[in-house]
Amino acid sequence: MRNFTNVQDIGDLKGAVKEALEVKANRFAYQHLGRNRTLLMIFFNSSLRTRLSTQKAAMNLGMNTIVLDVNQGAWKLETERGVIMDGDKPEHLLEAIPVMGCYCDVIGVRAFARFENKEEDYNETIINQFIKYSGRPVFSMEAATRHPLQSFADLITIEEYKRCERPKVVLSWAPHPKSLPQAVPNSFAEWMNATDYDFVITHPKGYELAPQFVGKAKVEYDQRKAFEGADFIYAKNWSAYADPNYGKVLSTDRAWTVDSEKMGLTNNAFFMHCLPVRRNMIVTDDVIESPQSIVIPEAANREISAQVVLKRILESL
Ligand code: CP
Repeated sequence: MRNFTNVQDIGDLKGAVKEALEVKANRFAYQHLGRNRTLLMIFFNSSLRTRLSTQKAAMNLGMNTIVLDVNQGAWKLETERGVIMDGDKPEHLLEAIPVMGCYCDVIGVRAFARFENKEEDYNETIINQFIKYSGRPVFSMEAATRHPLQSFADLITIEEYKRCERPKVVLSWAPHPKSLPQAVPNSFAEWMNATDYDFVITHPKGYELAPQFVGKAKVEYDQRKAFEGADFIYAKNWSAYADPNYGKVLSTDRAWTVDSEKMGLTNNAFFMHCLPVRRNMIVTDDVIESPQSIVIPEAANREISAQVVLKRILESL
């Protein structure tokens, strides 16, 4: 594997999950792969899970790691080509990227949608510049439109907990006070569509995801109907995708909060969320604290998804 930005890059999902479970059972078996190799992790946005789990995965593989928070201590970066740089940004990404590539063997990048220009976000301008100019394999630690390390961890978790071959998995919009990117739901939908699960997306009107991510999923605007018989509820907020409301919050309706009454409509479903989660906005305390909540094992699997991706990249060097 050279780069990892979407579900296609991982190839056969059954094989990837099998490899993940092998890595999970023996996570220090591949230390030779990372010896004298350095991972550079670049964060344009905040993180708890991605930072820790990816660093741990790299250490499991024997790698050295360098973490750079672009917004804390690095030069402010210009990202647009052709700009007269007479403002507050002293360095251009087009020099910074190849320089970063000099100090490492693999680069992980976190660069969220900026909601300034939908085309720029959906063209994945930042991570694609890293792929083009760094000279190194690049993997996404959440980009503008996808969060594949999260989705891979979600898939591993569903495979570990599922009680039937083809579970009903429901991605449910839930309220949040701030404008959030579509990366997690886009990516989750992309990965679920690559399985043979019964996959349903539920959200209020106006929150339709981009058609290329909705794919073959069933869209159900009635959340309660969507929950009926579900085996997994995956809650997430996202902002509007469709013009002219791209990036906007259209609703904070707490009637969409996942609560125990709605969970009662399901087939004793497991509750999932990528975290961080706003309690009593996205999900009530009693649901997230219930035995059916698997948000912690889901987060734990972030180490495993990152390790499989890094292992495959190291094997290709
Ligand atoms: N789920 C996730 O990516 O968490 P962080 O934003 O804390 O990394």
